[in-house]
Amino acid sequence: MIYTKMSADEAAALINHGATISVSGFTAAGTPRVVTEALAVKAEKEHAEGRPFKINLFTGALTNECVDEALAKAHAIDRRMPFQGSPAMRAGINSGEINYFDMHLSVVGQYVRYGFLGKIDFCIIEALDINDEGEIVLSGGIGCVDTYSQMADKIIVELNSAYDTRIRGLHDIYTPATPPHRREIPIYEPQDRIGSPVLKVDPKKVVAVVECNYRYGVKPFSPIDATTAQLGRNVARFLTEELQAGRIPPEFLPLQSGVGNVSNAILHELQEADEIPPFKLYTEVLQDQVIDLIDLGRCTFASSGALALSDEVYDKVMANIDFYKQHIVLRPYEISNHPEIVRRLGIVAINTALEADIFGNVNSTHVLGTKMMNGVGGAADFARNAYISVFICPSVAKGGNISAIVPYASHIDSSEHSVMIIITEQGIADLRGKSPRQRAECIIENCAHPSYRPLLREYLHLMDGQGGHTPLSLHHAFAFHEEFMKSGDMHNTKF
Ligand code: COA
Repeated sequence: MIYTKMSADEAAALINHGATISVSGFTAAGTPRVVTEALAVKAEKEHAEGRPFKINLFTGALTNECVDEALAKAHAIDRRMPFQGSPAMRAGINSGEINYFDMHLSVVGQYVRYGFLGKIDFCIIEALDINDEGEIVLSGGIGCVDTYSQMADKIIVELNSAYDTRIRGLHDIYTPATPPHRREIPIYEPQDRIGSPVLKVDPKKVVAVVECNYRYGVKPFSPIDATTAQLGRNVARFLTEELQAGRIPPEFLPLQSGVGNVSNAILHELQEADEIPPFKLYTEVLQDQVIDLIDLGRCTFASSGALALSDEVYDKVMANIDFYKQHIVLRPYEISNHPEIVRRLGIVAINTALEADIFGNVNSTHVLGTKMMNGVGGAADFARNAYISVFICPSVAKGGNISAIVPYASHIDSSEHSVMIIITEQGIADLRGKSPRQRAECIIENCAHPSYRPLLREYLHLMDGQGGHTPLSLHHAFAFHEEFMKSGDMHNTKF
């Protein structure tokens, strides 16, 4: 090997205060671990000795406890993008300590290549293999590492021996050209391969190879409860009715499914829905449930950015990797989420909302308008460009004290102009071709929890006789949220 081998501490010692670090991976899958863990220790030591130490951190999306959690706990982060989901990182963002900018994942790579986000000093890559030509076999997650590794001045490789290199061939790495020279991205079906099975980096930029051995299990999902099961059945009913009405062609269309507990439950229900023919996924993240769908022949092909699998399911995939290579491809998320491809393939996008308002605006990111949950991720990349964009959520949260259907969303990441369908466990609201008043009635009567419907109807009629296209009462738009902050229960709202 032509590269310099170092310990994690030695590699972390190369990184100085103020550096911008990027990392490979998407979720815990493919995300490095040991150098950032050592960097967190270094930051704490620097702080203890009275010196400032903070870095800027660009990731694929969610990471693992040794990246976001460790660095946030060490107070070692200044700027952070584009998506996160760890408790310490979330706390740092919501206290104002960490300058987080939440971005549509499809544009992260091009923003970096265009120079919009400044210079990147280091890219830390989890690799299962690297040769002297700089060809890297990645593990289960790609994220934005194609761009990060091109744009970083220096590369540190974490060579992880815990995973089998027979995964080589699952990846398809392709970076679009920069305008005005960009051409179409030649993906016409989810299974099309257009790039390289390995990540190619400049060997001269590799300043350290850190040998390591670690596994990353993705934390298990909450068990499917009666509410999420009913939500899943409603999604299956909606898709079946679209198929029967001829609005979805008989060969069906590729599905995109969001992240989290609710999305996992939806995929489970699609397993049972025999009226829906076997389908393909063109999505951002593959969760455990997708492997069951492939095994059962319900999902015939899945294109994704990450294998966000539990250790047990990952091992099952590796034990039969030749079979799964015929059914799965992993792409950088610039490609898995690309608007051009989403529109061309005719993707039916199913994403999760924290709350939706009666006009169809969706908030997937900010609790009560102010506190960041995770980030927008790819939800709006898909929603804005989908053949049909569906948002799903349980109709209430926190034991019923929060209505997920509110007079006005306290933050909007997918607007009424992109949201076609809202589904809760209560029912389906089809917003296509409806005016704001019609949408409001449809959402209240079909999606809101019955205990909140009288209050929402009362709100809707506050503006009767006052004209206007959208019957929004500016004065009372956030009455539900204010009431929750005051009494802890939106049911107590008075207009
Ligand atoms: N107000 C306050 N809290 C709410 C809420 C609301 N309206 N709705 C839900 N919550 C809380 C839940 O109570 C739960 O809290 P807990 O962790 O303390 O139990 C938490 O939010 C998560 O809810 P859950 O029902 O388990 O949802 P989930 O795991 O399916 O995640 C999102 C939902 C919206 C947070 C998640 O899908 C997300 O981050 N989406 C944005 C990114 C995205 O969609 N990417 C996909 C593109 S491929």
